[in-house]
Amino acid sequence: ADGRGAAAASGDVPPGYVTPGGPHVRDAEKRRGNGPVRQLSLLATPTLVQLGGRTVNTWAYDGSLTGPEMRVTAGDTLAVDFANNLPHHTTVHWHGVALRNDMDGVPGITQAAVAPGASFPYRFTVVRPGTYWYHPHVGVQQDRGLYGPLIVDDPREPLAYDKEWVVVLDDWVDGIDGSDPDAILKELNHGMSHGGHEMRAAAAPEGPSRILKGAHSELLGGEAGNVDYPLHLINGRTADDPETFTAAPGDRIRIRLINAGGDTAYRVALGGHTMTITHTDGHPVEHADTDTLLLGMSERYDVLVTAKDGAFPLTALAEGKKRLAQAVLRTGGGSAPGPGTRPRELDGKLVTAPDLYSAESVRLPERDVERRHQMVLTGSMGRFNWAINHEPFTPSQRYAVREGERVQLVFRNHTRMWHPMHLHGHAFELADGGPRKDTVSVRPGRTVRVHLDADNPGLWMLHCHNVYHSESGMMTVLGYR
Ligand code: C2O
Ligand code: CU
Repeated sequence: ADGRGAAAASGDVPPGYVTPGGPHVRDAEKRRGNGPVRQLSLLATPTLVQLGGRTVNTWAYDGSLTGPEMRVTAGDTLAVDFANNLPHHTTVHWHGVALRNDMDGVPGITQAAVAPGASFPYRFTVVRPGTYWYHPHVGVQQDRGLYGPLIVDDPREPLAYDKEWVVVLDDWVDGIDGSDPDAILKELNHGMSHGGHEMRAAAAPEGPSRILKGAHSELLGGEAGNVDYPLHLINGRTADDPETFTAAPGDRIRIRLINAGGDTAYRVALGGHTMTITHTDGHPVEHADTDTLLLGMSERYDVLVTAKDGAFPLTALAEGKKRLAQAVLRTGGGSAPGPGTRPRELDGKLVTAPDLYSAESVRLPERDVERRHQMVLTGSMGRFNWAINHEPFTPSQRYAVREGERVQLVFRNHTRMWHPMHLHGHAFELADGGPRKDTVSVRPGRTVRVHLDADNPGLWMLHCHNVYHSESGMMTVLGYR
């Protein structure tokens, strides 16, 4: 169950495409400049972690949940000496970073997988500030606990804030109930998990939203994940042993939310507070206030809050499920919120990505579309045959683009489940002036159109970030000719 791009049969590779380590890729990297080198190291290793009083055996970066926070400044060259201490080959993918293609961490496409005991020197220039993260691109390894935040500071940071809180969400299986991610995948692939049963999708009208709708308790419809996970984590901690973040009343706090869950969308709220959305997937948006946010797998939101006086739950509720993850913001006395606390903000105003507008500074200039790819998202939970245009992934697949083109991707979800569609190496723009993002949740019955400028030559994965869907076949390659 590790075919996530793992086994490129080299004989199959179609001719006429850019080579990940070739001259086009090297030229693009030269244009990014080469700033000061930030030298780090990273180890993927089996480890024991403590989860709310339980000791569990899993895999993690540097042996800790979450993996180490990497922090660089835009313009820096990030140099990570990666070592693989796992009993399995692996890679590191730098999610959301528009980097040089041969450092993108996709085995069989951009590099050879890193064998057990072997190492790989990742090295690339990071141009854009923002909230990113890293994880393997092999099988469903990410769902064992291999993930960590990558924060790129802006040397000319325009936001004023006193404190910063990086919040990583995760759904947890391994070692808790005897299941492991590969076993889950196997079960899902045999269509047994839900006995072939499928949820009825809510009929959802298609169409842009030009104004912030701010719907209350919007019913989104469809299944956001395959499995009801036994535990949900914030920064590697369970709700009954939560992380406490301390600040002073009145502090402006920048919260960087990252959904590292393999199979769970989260609805997030901070009790007693309104959140001002400033970024999504690392890109600035026109600021918008909300009570709650919805993060599909791999999505990020940056928000600003002005801390009140007391102790408040930061709660991430598994969408469509009952279980939750929790942390605590403490600025004063008072008892900590209990582990099951559901702040009423979770049922308040919800702003989703299509409601937002891109900040002027990162808006794509108006231009005619020169290349369009239609991608029908197909498959069913019963058969677990997730695919794009009915074709499960093979490493020789290519959807062609040429450098310099304005490209439109049209995602049509013909299934009953959510699909957070993610493109490597680029940030597309949602239709009608929507935000720049690298992942967009395409809900059942919906069509989502995104645009991008083909400005980063290489072979780039395009896939659903439900790791069980991508692993079962909902994945392909956007290839520069
Ligand atoms: Cu988070 Cu293919 O990536
Ligand atoms: Cu999916």
